[in-house]
Amino acid sequence: MSWFSKTLNSTIGRKIFMSLTGIFLILFLTVHVAGNLQLLIPDGGKAFNIYAHTMGTNPFIQVVSKLNFAFIIVHIIWSILLTRQNMAARGVGYAASSGASSKWNSRNMGALGTVILIFLIVHLRKFWYVFKFGEVPTTTIDGAEVPNYFLVVNEAYSYWYYVVFYVVCLIVIAGHLNHGFQSAFQTLGLNHKKYTPFIKAVGALYSIIVPLLFALIPVMMFLRNL
Ligand code: HEM
Repeated sequence: MSWFSKTLNSTIGRKIFMSLTGIFLILFLTVHVAGNLQLLIPDGGKAFNIYAHTMGTNPFIQVVSKLNFAFIIVHIIWSILLTRQNMAARGVGYAASSGASSKWNSRNMGALGTVILIFLIVHLRKFWYVFKFGEVPTTTIDGAEVPNYFLVVNEAYSYWYYVVFYVVCLIVIAGHLNHGFQSAFQTLGLNHKKYTPFIKAVGALYSIIVPLLFALIPVMMFLRNL
C-alpha cells in the first residue's frame, strides 16, 4: 500500500480529508450566500439573473462547481467510513470541544449531516437541476435574452412549507457548521492557547451569520409575495 493510500485509510488521514473538504465547503457557502443575497434586491431579479447566468457560463466556475460536488461526495463518504471506524474502535471520536451545545453537536455530527444530505438532494433537484436541465422562461436584460432564474427561485419560496423546510434545515446546518469549523482546525493541528479561542469565536459567529443570511432569503421572498 502506498504512503498516500495508507494515510487516506488511517483515522487521522480520513479526519484530515474531512477537515480540508469541510473548509472548502465553508468557503463555498460564503460565496454562495453572497451571490444569493442578490435575490433580495428589489429589481425584479435583474442582478440575480445576471449573476446566475455568469456563474452558469463561466468555464472557471464550471471547474470549481465540479470540484465542489466531488468534495461534497468525499466529505459524505469519509464521514460514513470514519463513523464506522470509530464505532469499531470506540473512543476515537470527532475532536470534541468544550461547551454543552458543541458537545451535543459533536455527538450528533452524523445525524445533522444526514439532514443536510436530505436538504441538499431537495435543494439541488429544485434549483441546480432545473437551472441546468429544466425549462426556464427567459427575460431580456440590456437587449440580451437570458434565462429568468429568479422566477424559479421566487416560485419555490411562494410556498410556506418550502420556506419552513429551509429555515429548519438552516438551523441544523448552523449546528453542523459550529462544530465542524472548530473541529476542522483542531484536526489540522491548529490548536494554540492564543489562537484557539479566536478560531472558536470566528466559527461561532460564522455558523450564526451565514445560516441567518441564507434563511433571510426564503423568508423575505415569501413575505414579498404575500
Ligand atoms: C436560501 C438559501 C439558498 C438559496 C436561495 C440557494 C440557491 C441556489 C441556486 C439558485 C442554485 C443553482 C445555481 C446554479 O446551478 O447556477 C444552488 C446551487 C447549489 N446550492 Fe444553494 N442555495 C441556498 C442554500 C444552500 C445551502 C445552505 C447549501 C449547502 C448546505 C447549498 C448548496 C448548494 C450547492 C452544493 C449547489 C450546487 C452548486 C454548484 O453548481 O457547484 N445551497 N443554490
